[in-house]
Amino acid sequence: MSSFVIVIFGGTGNLAQHKLFPALYSLFAKGKLGKKFYIVSFSRRKFSDEDYRKLLRDEWGLTGSRNTNWEAFVKNIYYSQGYFDDISGYKELNKRLNVFDNEVGACITRLFYLATPPDKYLSILNKLKESKLAEGCGQGSEKWTRLAIEKPFGKDLESSIELDKTLADIFEEKQIYRVDHYLAKETVQNMLAFRFANGIFEPIWNKKYIDHVQITFAEKKGIAGRGSFFDGIGILRDVAQNHLLQLLAAITMEAPKSFSRESVRDARAAAIKAIRAIAPENVYKQVVRAQYEGYRNEKGVAPNSMTETFVAMQLFVDTWRFKGVPFYIRAGKKMAENIVEIKLVFIQTCHVLFKEYGCPEIGNVLTIRIQPNEGIRMRVVVKRPDSKLSLDTVDMKFTYNEVFGEHIDESYEKLLLDIFSGDQMLFNRSDELASSWQLISQIMEGWKKQASSSLSVYTPGTWGPKDADELIGQDGKKWIS
Ligand code: BG6
Repeated sequence: MSSFVIVIFGGTGNLAQHKLFPALYSLFAKGKLGKKFYIVSFSRRKFSDEDYRKLLRDEWGLTGSRNTNWEAFVKNIYYSQGYFDDISGYKELNKRLNVFDNEVGACITRLFYLATPPDKYLSILNKLKESKLAEGCGQGSEKWTRLAIEKPFGKDLESSIELDKTLADIFEEKQIYRVDHYLAKETVQNMLAFRFANGIFEPIWNKKYIDHVQITFAEKKGIAGRGSFFDGIGILRDVAQNHLLQLLAAITMEAPKSFSRESVRDARAAAIKAIRAIAPENVYKQVVRAQYEGYRNEKGVAPNSMTETFVAMQLFVDTWRFKGVPFYIRAGKKMAENIVEIKLVFIQTCHVLFKEYGCPEIGNVLTIRIQPNEGIRMRVVVKRPDSKLSLDTVDMKFTYNEVFGEHIDESYEKLLLDIFSGDQMLFNRSDELASSWQLISQIMEGWKKQASSSLSVYTPGTWGPKDADELIGQDGKKWIS
């Protein structure tokens, strides 16, 4: 890999701590970062390079088990103090980046990574422009700079369009990487192979055979110290607008024309566009929102907060393949388990042969486990060996760990490598975002009109409020755990 510098705005924040640095360190340990690279954290707090390195090691515990490489890794890390809306910090940063260019003797690729709360994006972008940092090293050529921007990309349709306009004013599309790290999860990437490289699935992947689809995103943890960030957005915008709709798209999209960047993005964008809008007045019928007990006492959360920590929805996708098939989606913090998975529940046909013996209520279910224990499970109906003809269900399973060992790169490792190599396939395009925001903004519109009593409360450590069971129950179905 050629030399690069990554500037992390928000280098003392949650994302830097939990995702970006662990990924960079792991890539380094695997020898994937190349010979010469620089990591610069840009944030408000005052640190020397040395103190910042100590924070990574002592407070964030980044060294982990790969202790041996630590010294070699950490000497590539620098700290630049500055305020996001004050040009002076950017000027200092510019000087520092020029020193790196001089050291290498060339203009090295600069990646600006916006890992701050989203309300800082516009300030940072404007200052990148004003300081000319966005232009790279004196070549008048933007190709040397790239920008990675984290979700949530805006807070509704309008602000997302606004943000896009600012981006387009400063960068060319080929320089912009809109991050949704779920797109880089191995199991999500595998969906195209699984669906289209297996002749047995493609013919049944449609409304004729699929009864409904369930997507669950459950985390045992709460808001993990991110109260002031989370309280301003809620789980609908934190994970549903992006991660969950991308999981849905992975199930519903048509095969792209090829594995080229734009073909894959076209197919994804078409899938998201095909999700049927929910009119604000129907939101109460199709969307459940809830908050876990005790949420309002969390640090950074307003004492009368109406922010949802759980959401469940019934969605429809208007394509020839899925028209009329309900998709039930639920996402929650402080849930009973840590699980992200997709279940395709096939239409249960109890053959006349077995009618008198009785068939299982739910027959074939294909489960795609995104995490943990990534893998795929197919539930099939069998005859119990100890009976004349009593039917039961069993699972045929594949897990990545058993077959491939622990070789799955963490999603941020994949994303960073893709950015360094200039591959935008696993990054959002504006049209995908516009379609997802359209859907989500209408739900938010509906919520504004609802009474505050429409926000239910659930007990931490459970599967959410009973309204979520009723949502799926109204169609005669239930969540499968
Ligand atoms: C982030 C959300 O995008 O994804 C977090 O902001 C969530 O709230 C996280 O916890 C989950 O990511 P992962 O990769 O740990 O499943």
